[in-house]
Amino acid sequence: MTAHRPTSKPTAPRPLPPLSTVGILGGGQLGRMLAGAAARLGFRTHIFAPEKDSPAFDIATAKTVAVYDDETALDAFAAAVDVITYEFENVPVEAAFRLAHHRPVFPDANALSVAQDRLKERIFLNNWDIETAPHATIDSLDALVCESEAFNGPCVLKTRRFGYDGKGQAKLNSPSDAARAWETVAGARSILEAFVPFEMEISVIACRDRYGATAAYAATHNTHVNHILSVSRAPAPIAPETQARARALAVRIVDALNYVGVIGVEMFLVRSKEEGDRLIVNEIAPRVHNSGHWTLDAAVTDQFEQHIRAITGHHLGDTKRTADAEMLNLIGDEAEDLTPFFSEPRVKVHHYGKAEARPGRKMGHVTRLLPLSNGRPDGSISRNG
Ligand SMILES: Nc1ncnc2c1ncn2[C@@H]1O[C@H](COP(=O)(O)OP(=O)(O)O)[C@@H](O)[C@H]1O
Ligand SMILES: [Mg+2]
Repeated sequence: MTAHRPTSKPTAPRPLPPLSTVGILGGGQLGRMLAGAAARLGFRTHIFAPEKDSPAFDIATAKTVAVYDDETALDAFAAAVDVITYEFENVPVEAAFRLAHHRPVFPDANALSVAQDRLKERIFLNNWDIETAPHATIDSLDALVCESEAFNGPCVLKTRRFGYDGKGQAKLNSPSDAARAWETVAGARSILEAFVPFEMEISVIACRDRYGATAAYAATHNTHVNHILSVSRAPAPIAPETQARARALAVRIVDALNYVGVIGVEMFLVRSKEEGDRLIVNEIAPRVHNSGHWTLDAAVTDQFEQHIRAITGHHLGDTKRTADAEMLNLIGDEAEDLTPFFSEPRVKVHHYGKAEARPGRKMGHVTRLLPLSNGRPDGSISRNG
């Protein structure tokens, strides 16, 4: 009998039964909330993270403390779990490929590599006719000077990799800002893009299961303070037609990527008299997303459960809103005294169990539940499979 090697991604998966183990790369608050959702569904979790005090360890079944290129630790992790996902998009693609030889990895390494490089991300989006801000590739100060002259207006320099919360970015009001901007990104391979005069920032959390069914949550309106998400409101105060378009756009992205799991799609809404509302995609996050935390308390199925359902081969749950919601991030020392939030009965409190409140660190969030503004289902699932 010839040896049969199972493929890493079966087309007709058997849903994982209770007590199976979900492996999660990354141990931050997103991993913690994923582990909570997995536990509710009867799964065990195994968290792989480099930091020994990772907040997700508190509630996981098992942990591995190791760096993402420790091949021995990765192989042992793969052997101990039934399916693998991540809560952090900067996991090296090589690690995802290595793990995929042993166990299914969702979202797959292709989605990861597209989402972790801003240039690849924009090329992918533009190939699918999805609008992004005009951009140019920057590999030297000379190129930066030249391209910023060509843009002839304000623009933003962004490192291709590892940026978050506005880190690895510099705004140029004119080409004379080029040297300072190049210093800010420390000469890293970057893109330069036109500054978008947006009306508001919105995002859509979408999901796709292993059978090709898709769903999306209501688009939320996001406001940032010091480049860190501060408040998300669901639904965003936009025309129903724009809501529908934003959600359809996010679903097109998960279909184009043949994606499995939850994705966050950040967009700029630009309003013009001639063209109405234009949606410009700014960033895709191949994971559960901060602007989807409201779904924990104000949707039939929250984004964490949805992700676990999708990757374990189960069907998606309903993404319909059960209330309007306002999610407020608690940053730095803002989570020290939670008593005022507990005194509001319609506020749901989430603390991530982090011991040290460094400035800019996300320590928790609260979600204020508001009356449902319309009863229209904004979360139907389309079954392609
Ligand atoms: N081209 C742009 N035009 C206007 N504002 C921008 C542009 N790019 C980024 N920003 C602002 O900076 C924030 C962070 O940029 P983003 O590309 O989302 O990186 P990250 O979230 O990884 O730090 C955005 O949410 C937006 O407020
Ligand atoms: Mg962003």
